[in-house]
Amino acid sequence: MTLPKKVKLVDVGPRDGLQNEKEPVPAAIKIELVHRLQQAGLREIEVTSFVSPKWVPQMADNAQVMAGITRLPGVRYSVLTPNLQGLNAALAAPRAQWPDEIVVFASASEAFSQRNINCSIAESIERFRPVAEAARANNIYVRGAISCTVGCPFEGEVAPERVAMVARLLKEIGVQHMGVADTIGVGTPIKVQRAMEAAIKHYSLDDVSGHFHDTYGQALSNTLTALHMGVWQFDASVAGLGGCPYAKGATGNVASEDVVYMLNGMGIETGIDLDKLIDAGKFISDFLGRKPNSRAATALLVKRAG
Ligand code: HMG
Ligand code: MG
Repeated sequence: MTLPKKVKLVDVGPRDGLQNEKEPVPAAIKIELVHRLQQAGLREIEVTSFVSPKWVPQMADNAQVMAGITRLPGVRYSVLTPNLQGLNAALAAPRAQWPDEIVVFASASEAFSQRNINCSIAESIERFRPVAEAARANNIYVRGAISCTVGCPFEGEVAPERVAMVARLLKEIGVQHMGVADTIGVGTPIKVQRAMEAAIKHYSLDDVSGHFHDTYGQALSNTLTALHMGVWQFDASVAGLGGCPYAKGATGNVASEDVVYMLNGMGIETGIDLDKLIDAGKFISDFLGRKPNSRAATALLVKRAG
């Protein structure tokens, strides 16, 4: 398999990145982050999630954030919707503020499904069915994510067969794209390859993406492995922000800056301006009072300071 010439990165920083922050991040800061990401060349941004504010208080300002962003043509704005209530809330706004894409998120592990969305895998599929139908009827693209595709904080190792099973169920209800997530960043290249192969049993290579958290420092290796399989779409988080509130100790997604640095070095196009991306990461990190969790950004900021 030859490497892809182009890669599409979805920056999930405003959602996955910020959802776990203890202190409230004002909507204006989230909006500015989205603006900076699109100025840096990101063509898809996961903006927020329409989930229970009791479960994830940081995303309670979802409608305000969606209403506040100035959209750029050609950019897709996605949101998480775990059930019809979430989709209806996202579509309660004027049409110009609707997401272009929604994400339903399942799990390959039963225990994580219960902790994250309070239902079994089978129940989650039944919840997603009308969500996918209603979204597609409104011309909104339906992306799916499967958590814990290589490991679960409660169940340990997860077999690829489980990933294939959940991918099949999601395909059957009309989910158009499958994100293979290593929620707690325990995956190593061969395991991630097997999880990806399981998803590819039911989705074409053009309809799968990698979503790798970097807890154990494996996310870039896992990204490279997926690239070698021909996968060309990846989620990443500016400044390496984040973690899932229901996966204790898990850190953020692979930093977008690190992925772009790697891809630039490999001659693979992303359309992203690394300097502007680093500025976006510095903006949000300064607000949070910490350094960007990106090796490439750290090195390039030192070089800039010269
Ligand atoms: P539930 O308690 O089972 O839902 O929660 P319910 O239908 O029984 O309703 C109970 C209450 O929740 C009611 O409110 C509903 O109105 C409210 P009350 O009457 O008690 O005041 N409710 C909602 N409120 C707002 N928006 C909604 C909504 N639905 C119900 N959509 C639910 C089920 C899924 C809502 C809940 O478990 C939840 O919000 N979980 C949070 C899930 C989450 O956001 N997790 C983090 C994102 S996923 C992730 O990070 C993984 C990913 O990055 C991939 C990876 O790395 O693995 C995608
Ligand atoms: Mg995640």
